Amino acid sequence: MAISIKSPSDVEGMRVAGRLASEVLDMLMPHVVPGVTTDHLDKLAHHHIVNVQGAVPAPLNYAPPGYTPYPKSICTSINHQVCHGIPNDRPLKNGDIVNIDVTVIKDGWHGDTSRMFIVGTGSIAARRLIQITYEAMWKGIVKVRPGAHLGDIGNAIQTFAETNGFSIVREFCGHGIGARFHEEPQVLHYGRPGGLEELKTGMMFTIEPMINAGKREIRETGDGWTIVTRDRSLSAQWEHTVLVTDSGYEVMTLSAGSPPPPAFVSGA
Ligand code: MF3
Ligand code: CO
Ligand code: CO
Repeated sequence: MAISIKSPSDVEGMRVAGRLASEVLDMLMPHVVPGVTTDHLDKLAHHHIVNVQGAVPAPLNYAPPGYTPYPKSICTSINHQVCHGIPNDRPLKNGDIVNIDVTVIKDGWHGDTSRMFIVGTGSIAARRLIQITYEAMWKGIVKVRPGAHLGDIGNAIQTFAETNGFSIVREFCGHGIGARFHEEPQVLHYGRPGGLEELKTGMMFTIEPMINAGKREIRETGDGWTIVTRDRSLSAQWEHTVLVTDSGYEVMTLSAGSPPPPAFVSGA
């Protein structure tokens, strides 16, 4: 199936869904403290999405081919967990780093975003990984404009991460998004400039680099979902849902609590 082009009214629906997803992270932020369990964060998120936002948590019971249905409403990936960590009853402890990934469905449209959180006080190494990963995501976002290629995005992210001594996870990528959670195209976080699909106004996809402090290799754990680094090094990820506009890009998944873009992002 071809890459869908969003109409102005589709985009308006995506703006709402994107903002709501980001607002779930805003709501969770003060709760990410030592001693809290990721199950508790999941319950808070579920309640907020369903009862406050009138939306649906897309991960709950999500079952792509070959997967068992995902059992929770958010993903919480801690330390060496790369992505798709399942909330559980273990308390977070001081110094943990956590990715919380939220996807909501509102009026049929999906908003997908994730941020990193530090529990209490993080190590300098952890803070640097989180910061570089955040900047890497934005290095990709600023490449987005009609006429650019998906390979430009991947190359910008890969070059920046590897220059800083980190590695890019290759098995998972960003994705087209809209009326479905995961659509075409795949958005690789590595690649060659000028490679792959040319971007056109109205395309909508996520950019969500997973970056490891050590080697890039990963493995799946026994729960069928959680991905970890093979060398048990720390891993970080940030995610935004982005629209290709005539003049460049628009980020769908912003809200009052979104961290500001890095200084190299000119006010668009
Ligand atoms: N939100 C993830 C993404 O960015 C997908 C999670 S699938 C789930 O694509 F089932 F684990 F929630
Ligand atoms: Co995504
Ligand atoms: Co996500």
